[in-house]
Amino acid sequence: MSDLKLELQGVSKTFAMQGGRMVQAVGPVDLLIPDHRFISIVGPSGCGKSTLFNIISGLDEASVGTIYVDGKRVNGLAGITGYMLQKDLLLPWRTILDNVILGLQIQGTPKREAKNKALPLLEKYGLGGFEYLYPAQLSGGMRQRAALLRTILYNREIILLDEPFGALDAQTRSMMQEWLLDLWDDFQKTILFITHDIDEAIYLSDEVYIMSARPGTIKRHLKIDLPRPRKPHIVTSPHFMGLKEEALRTLSEETMKAYQQERGTSDVH
Ligand SMILES: Nc1ncnc2c1ncn2[C@@H]1O[C@H](COP(=O)(O)OP(=O)(O)O)[C@@H](O)[C@H]1O
Ligand SMILES: [Mg+2]
Repeated sequence: MSDLKLELQGVSKTFAMQGGRMVQAVGPVDLLIPDHRFISIVGPSGCGKSTLFNIISGLDEASVGTIYVDGKRVNGLAGITGYMLQKDLLLPWRTILDNVILGLQIQGTPKREAKNKALPLLEKYGLGGFEYLYPAQLSGGMRQRAALLRTILYNREIILLDEPFGALDAQTRSMMQEWLLDLWDDFQKTILFITHDIDEAIYLSDEVYIMSARPGTIKRHLKIDLPRPRKPHIVTSPHFMGLKEEALRTLSEETMKAYQQERGTSDVH
């Protein structure tokens, strides 16, 4: 048996627009994701990254192609992955604890049992003392921790994180990166991570996929053979900078294409 966790074969998505026009949002995409890896996906805005996650999570269906988890076809099946959406907001009327146990409650875990599971994790992962506060009383970084813990507690082997740190300032973001690597290490998940920050992608990942302008396909696949555990100073090493230069070459080309698409100066599919 291979240790392949997730496989995408020729996955693409076409949306029907008003007036009957069809727009291909993403694909065809092929991915082979081994178990327990940290994989980042970068690509120009609008290239179809979130659409791809919606398809993997079963929130949306692929127009073409097949998704396999542990070798089984899972097209259109929800609940296979833990998914933190790009705009994953905590419910403002629930405490942090009640927000974090939401996934467990949805699965049918009784509230008391869910709380007993969540409380030690909140303590261990830097949210001790915040359990009974409301989201509005917390900083952006703390709210993202809570949203991430909720996703982890949902207890799926594959975790999809769509730009979880996109709205955070640089210092908070770098703290959250360390925090996420600890969490990944402790829970042994397979993580797919969307970011627009190439440094973040390289720093966190075992592999980075760079997507083309819409409809997004895999333009580049980089293996990140930097030693672990990762330490912040690694970003100044020649090895890191070499990987970054390689990634940026593809990414800036595709970002330029995406920009031209948006300006209507090239054909839209
Ligand atoms: N439900 C939808 N209906 C029509 N078009 C959509 C829908 N969802 C996304 N799109 C389009 O698909 C493309 C990819 O979007 P998205 O996956 O959000 O990109 P990304 O996450 O890479 O920024 C965009 O052009 C977007 O406008
Ligand atoms: Mg997106």
